[in-house]
Amino acid sequence: MSLESHGYSILVMKPTKKTSNQKPSLHRAIYPGTFDPITNGHVDLITRSLSIFDEVIILIAHSSKNPIFTPEERKKLILHCFKNDPRIKVDVIDGLLADYAKKLGVNVILRGLRAISDFEYEFQMATMNKRLHPKLETFFLMASENNFFVNSTLVKEVISHGGDVSTLVPPHVEQRLKEKLC
Ligand code: COA
Repeated sequence: MSLESHGYSILVMKPTKKTSNQKPSLHRAIYPGTFDPITNGHVDLITRSLSIFDEVIILIAHSSKNPIFTPEERKKLILHCFKNDPRIKVDVIDGLLADYAKKLGVNVILRGLRAISDFEYEFQMATMNKRLHPKLETFFLMASENNFFVNSTLVKEVISHGGDVSTLVPPHVEQRLKEKLC
């Protein structure tokens, strides 16, 4: 089973000449997730993605998890990480990611891969999103080695038992987690 048989192509990035009315197709990406809360792993991935994309829309999306922060609280925590960087937008949706992307005319979904175990789930989501919106490509970045073991659930568990998460989340996120869970 090849990726090509699923309608994927291998993306070769070449330098693109920009003119005032021509933008490379990679100029905007949507980075969807639950972000309950944002971790240093997410921040690292978003920061690195800004050397590839002109603008990244961080999309707080509905998932089957039971979040501890409301979407608005999660949005505030994310915005605080990137202060006034105009290349970062944060939005919240209740519906389908594919519909949101279609409406906005964005054809790239950005996702992080931490371990092989992420792959099957990501492959299913990418395939489903493509089925719903055939122009949608999912672009994967590897998590950096410092963050490959981090996830929001582990962070919440560690802090709720009094563990130190100061290297896993930004300081303002750690503070809000303590207020919620300790
Ligand atoms: N570094 C460290 N940790 C990371 C990471 C990184 N670079 N990237 C993800 N993670 C962690 C997250 O903290 C999260 O941990 P958790 O499971 O303990 O909460 C986990 O990896 C995966 O989370 P996230 O990246 O937020 O993805 P998700 O699986 O929660 O999100 C949605 C799934 C929201 C993208 C998906 O459900 C969706 O698109 N929903 C919208 C509705 C829709 O269109 N559904 C159909 C989808 S085909």
